[in-house]
Amino acid sequence: MEVVIAPAGDLARLAAASIEALLTEHPRSVLGLATGSSPLKVYDELARRHKDGLSFAHARAFMLDEYVGLPADHPERYRNVIEREIASRVDFAPGAVQGPDGNAEDLERACADYEAAIAATGGVDLQLLGIGTDGHIAFNEPGSSLASRTRIKTLTRQTREDNARFFGGAVGDVPRHCLTQGLATIMSAKHLVLLATGRAKAEAVHQLVEGPISAMWPATIMQMHPHATVLVDDAAASRLQLADYYRQTYAEKPDWQGL
Ligand code: F6R
Repeated sequence: MEVVIAPAGDLARLAAASIEALLTEHPRSVLGLATGSSPLKVYDELARRHKDGLSFAHARAFMLDEYVGLPADHPERYRNVIEREIASRVDFAPGAVQGPDGNAEDLERACADYEAAIAATGGVDLQLLGIGTDGHIAFNEPGSSLASRTRIKTLTRQTREDNARFFGGAVGDVPRHCLTQGLATIMSAKHLVLLATGRAKAEAVHQLVEGPISAMWPATIMQMHPHATVLVDDAAASRLQLADYYRQTYAEKPDWQGL
C-alpha cells in the first residue's frame, strides 16, 4: 500500500494523471467511480483534461453504490450525481457508465446482474474510492463480510448523519438502504485509489493503513490488495504513526514509477 500525503489539489491531480495515463495507454479501460465529496476535485480535473484532449469515448465505468428507493429524478440519487459530476462533462459513449439499480423490483437480481456486468468487461482497471468516518468503502459498513459481493446493505446512523449534508441537513431524508459493491468486488479491481481529506477521516485512515484487518474497519481489507494507493491531506494523515516514513518514501520515489 502506498500512502501519499499532499494538499487536496495535488491529490486530485495525481489521481487524474493516473487515470489519464491509463486511458492514454488503454483507451478501453474500465473505471470505477465513487460518489460523495472526496472524488469531486478529481472529476473537475478530468473534465479539464478532457477539454485538453483526454477522451473517455472507448472507456466504460461502474459506480460503487446506489441508494435504494430514491425517485429517478432525485438530485442525490448516485446515478444522477455521477451524471452531473463527471459523465456529462466528458465523452463517455451512451450506456458506458453503469450503476446498481436501487429502484429494481428484484434487488437481489439487480445485484447479481451488476456483478455479471462488471465481470463481463474483464473487471475494473482503476477504482476510485472515498472512505467513511466509520471506515466504510463503497457502503460496506462495519461488520461487512470481507468476502462480500454486490448486495443490499443498511446504512449506519453515522453514515446517514455524515450524508445528511447532501439532503439539506435532514438525516430522516437519507435513505436507510443501499446497493453496494462488496469488499471482494472492490478487491477484484486492478488498482485501488482512495482519497481522503479532513480531520474527520483521520481515525479511519489510520485504521485503513495501520490497523489490524477487521470487518470492524472494512477499508482495512485494502491492506491485502497488491496495488492500493491512499491519497491523503495533512489533516486526514494526522493520526498516521508512520507519516514521516510515508512522506520520505514518496519524496524519494523515482519519477518513472507513477502511482
Ligand atoms: C460513495 C461511497 C462512500 C463514500 C464515503 C465518503 O460512492 O462509496 O464510500 O466514498 O462515504 O464520502 P465523502 O467523500 O462524501 O466523505
